[in-house]
Amino acid sequence: MTATHYNDKVVRQFAIMTVVWGIVGMLVGVLIAAQLLWPDLLPPYSFLSYARLRPLHTNAVIFAFGGSALFATSYYIVQRTCHVRLFLDKLAAFTFWGWQVVILLAAITLPLGMTTSKEYAELEWPIDILIAIVWVAYAVVFFGTIAQRKVKHIYVANWFFAAYIITIAVLHIVNSLAVPVTLTKSYSIYPGVVDAMVQWWYGHNAVGFFLTAAFLGMMYYFVPKQAGRPVYSYRLSVVHFWALISTYMWAGPHHLHYTTLPDWAQSLGMVFSLILLAPSWGGMINGIMTLSGAWHKLRTDPILKFMIVSLSFYGMSTFEGPMMSIKTVNSLSHYTDWTIGHVHSGALGWVAMISIGTMYALIPKLYGREQMYSTKLIDVHFWTTTIGVVLYITSMWIAGVMQGLMWRATNADGTLTYAFIESIKSTYPYYAVRLAGGTLVFAGMLLMAWNVWKTIAARATTADSPVVQPA
Ligand code: HEM
Ligand code: HEM
Repeated sequence: MTATHYNDKVVRQFAIMTVVWGIVGMLVGVLIAAQLLWPDLLPPYSFLSYARLRPLHTNAVIFAFGGSALFATSYYIVQRTCHVRLFLDKLAAFTFWGWQVVILLAAITLPLGMTTSKEYAELEWPIDILIAIVWVAYAVVFFGTIAQRKVKHIYVANWFFAAYIITIAVLHIVNSLAVPVTLTKSYSIYPGVVDAMVQWWYGHNAVGFFLTAAFLGMMYYFVPKQAGRPVYSYRLSVVHFWALISTYMWAGPHHLHYTTLPDWAQSLGMVFSLILLAPSWGGMINGIMTLSGAWHKLRTDPILKFMIVSLSFYGMSTFEGPMMSIKTVNSLSHYTDWTIGHVHSGALGWVAMISIGTMYALIPKLYGREQMYSTKLIDVHFWTTTIGVVLYITSMWIAGVMQGLMWRATNADGTLTYAFIESIKSTYPYYAVRLAGGTLVFAGMLLMAWNVWKTIAARATTADSPVVQPA
């Protein structure tokens, strides 16, 4: 018997956890930003030390906050665009609970110092195995739903989600291959520079497929919906898809410039990073131009503001990234806070803002409400976030360029002009500005939690929506 209703329960669960993990992850971000300003803020050599909290921040914002947003929206979109209920309810529920267990295990083990030390892949082998199992279950639910679809066409958003699900499985499994020595310690199977290359093939494609392709899937459904207009160019969206996924794979070596990685591999990474500008901007333009003829909506709809400004940050960070991948530019930017500015123009400006805007569009629908409890509060949230992100990234850009220039400055006799500690002292004012920006962003998340709570508390229904028959 074909199901008559969509599975909205699992979407609701992931949507709520997006807000919860957003608050937790960004709180830890604010804490580590404060630690860089006041190094003695929390006891050193404890589970609250900077070194323990930093990976907790990155894992919480990327995989808990970003991951929950992606599970919620991919499950929502695939059902609506395929006109069927999600494949296998129980397996979908397993992906929700499994992912939450992964997050909890990360929140326990990282502060205890259990880590593989591979960035964005810090979790130890038993948790890696659980991630792989949950991810395969996710693939079965997603592709099972596609296979049962009632329409021939597969909407472009699903292509982006499909590429992300397949690629993340491959990246995670290959990069995590390790020899366990105890339950909480393992060693990578790859030696030396091969390990570094595999790690940054993983790391860069985690950016490309987790933090970019999947959020583009979100964008291709929710921007047209919110604007009430079709995608600007469907043809461009398909070209965008193939160009993006085929280019990203080769760009990883730009993380290893001037290392012992063979020079040709570094140059290859640089060239592919430069090419990547084109598909990235194709996607950004397609998203922003979807508003053609509906620009006036930006005046009154703060959800659209979130989405369009997020696309602008996407454009900015994907212009900056190719520039930073040029070896001579990278010789200045690498190791400096410029990289941190770049990361957050992508991660906060693009990933967090598109997710927040989308959650504001999605949550009322999931609870049978016309709109969020307060549109005014969404507008306040939009401004606190935008101002916060701008403060964050501009302070880090200035600090980064300053650090790079100070480190390379030499006197006429060839000695260094500045001691390293002088560059740190000069950076403090910028760390204060970054902390202020981060606090504003975090405060906005608290407003969001209040708004979501009021929306749900006054809910009309939590019943699943009926499956819409294809026209
Ligand atoms: C309130 C918001 C946030 C604050 C205050 C914040 C703060 C920070 C700080 C202080 C660092 C360490 C920088 C360093 O080592 O010098 C950091 C690293 C990082 N954050 Fe955030 N963050 C926030 C939101 C986010 C979000 C939403 C994401 C992703 C979706 C994110 C992703 C990252 C990543 C990937 C790094 C590591 C960067 C690298 O190693 O180059 N952050 N963050
Ligand atoms: C065309 C697209 C992009 C290119 C070519 C690019 C290129 C780069 C380069 C050259 C670096 C510095 C590597 C280093 O010196 O260590 C970097 C770092 C980084 N980028 Fe991008 N970027 C792009 C887009 C993005 C976006 C959209 C995001 C986030 C959503 C992002 C997240 C990051 C992160 C997290 C790092 C820090 C990695 C680490 O060292 O921990 N990038 N990127």
